[in-house]
Amino acid sequence: MKKWCAPRLERRPLARLSTTLAILALVAAASHSSSSADPGDEEIAGVLTPKDGDPPAVGRFKESGKNPYNKDPGAVAEGFRLARAVACTHCHGSDLSGLIGPDLTSGHWRYPRNGTDKGLFQTVYFGTNGGMAAWGTVGSLTEDEILKIMAFVRSQYRGEPAAVTWE
Ligand code: HEC
Repeated sequence: MKKWCAPRLERRPLARLSTTLAILALVAAASHSSSSADPGDEEIAGVLTPKDGDPPAVGRFKESGKNPYNKDPGAVAEGFRLARAVACTHCHGSDLSGLIGPDLTSGHWRYPRNGTDKGLFQTVYFGTNGGMAAWGTVGSLTEDEILKIMAFVRSQYRGEPAAVTWE
């Protein structure tokens, strides 16, 4: 029995941090409630239309719907750095296996669109109504940065290789 006591005590500060972050998430969600967590098709298409000055990877992504940074070690490393800097890892866990926010490594999605790169981009760019900020709409992350973070997310996949849906 004793063995179980120590880890439980150690977890308490984390639980408190989790509560604080959960409240922050709710506040953030509420203050953005008029923004576009449920963008219309036109709004999505507008963002996904190639524009002059798009960085090369962004342009290729908009044309193909596939993230050119997937499996690019430099981009994955930069994505990890960014994910820590903007706190994806605080809410989803440093290995993204889930904390306040859901597990992003299993291939089982609350929003099935996240099984494609286009869908994952939409989620990170426009946010959700259930606690995910709209990183793109509010300008916290550039499109290029979102793609790098997405490459990091894909690199953490721990499901069956045959079940990959975004390649
Ligand atoms: C303040 C906490 C918080 C932060 C920071 C955060 N998320 Fe989330 N995330 C959540 C919550 C809560 C959900 C569940 C949202 C819902 O159910 O609508 C979620 C959902 C998601 C989903 C959808 C998962 C699914 O199962 O469909 C993805 C993908 C995601 N987050 C990626 C990210 C990325 C990438 C970042 C960093 C740019 C990030 N999150 C930062 C809390 C957070």
